[in-house]
Amino acid sequence: MICLKVVIKLGGSLITDKSKPYSFRKEVVIRIAKEIKRAIDEKIDLVVIHGGGSFGHVEAKRAIDIYGRISNETISPIAFSMQELNYMMTSILVSNRIKAVSFPPHSLCVNLCNIGERFSCDLKIVKTAIEKGSVPILFGDIVYGDNFCDPAIISGDDLALMIGSYINAERIIFFTDVDGVFLELGHPETILKEIRLNEIDSVIKKASIYNNVVDVTSGLLGKLKKTYQYLSTSSSIKEVWISNGLIEGNIYNLISGKTVNGTKIIP
Ligand code: IPE
Repeated sequence: MICLKVVIKLGGSLITDKSKPYSFRKEVVIRIAKEIKRAIDEKIDLVVIHGGGSFGHVEAKRAIDIYGRISNETISPIAFSMQELNYMMTSILVSNRIKAVSFPPHSLCVNLCNIGERFSCDLKIVKTAIEKGSVPILFGDIVYGDNFCDPAIISGDDLALMIGSYINAERIIFFTDVDGVFLELGHPETILKEIRLNEIDSVIKKASIYNNVVDVTSGLLGKLKKTYQYLSTSSSIKEVWISNGLIEGNIYNLISGKTVNGTKIIP
């Protein structure tokens, strides 16, 4: 029997309808929970992270519209919106007999506001939870600023890579609502099935030009950029995947160590 350590990030566009504020895709999450349960029954240590979608992002935008920036006044509404979403996620996991235990990142992490090492998170409890047989569930969140720093939003992408490195996971998987990374959006034939670490930089440059992207910190190119940072320093991570969680079977197959159609990033 295999024993893999896996971290998955369920993107906000997968678990919510981003076009409608506060719309949770319950049926999709129920199907995802069944796939997760089937995979972890095969002796897999799993950490689940989810994004903010039409919960956290809507509140963050509202906060910026009102206060002009993410400030201390905006922590409560943003944190609350994410805890509402997390409660729905956790409820579905638990009712599918997954031993999910929620760890809100605003109680584990602070914003250091350094360019290099932006966030500091105390992840020991996450490791302990895995050792005790739980499935830790975390989410993109707003976190307090250290000293004079403002609060900031830590993305689920950052958390997935950070936790993956910390617990020595073999696989990190980003489930989204698209099939993977495309050199040119809208051209399915340009999907990149395998990207080596040393190719990431040139892929980002090419894809930014093809797709006219200036800021590569968010979305799929942001995932590539962040993956580069973590993969170049972690010795355990063997594969980072970007795959479509809307396609039935992808979640079970990838968590349980198999392959599917998608983009695989390798050291
Ligand atoms: C965002 O998390 C969290 C908040 C806006 C508070 P992510 O950045 O991971 O969310 P998605 O996956 O893009 O929706």
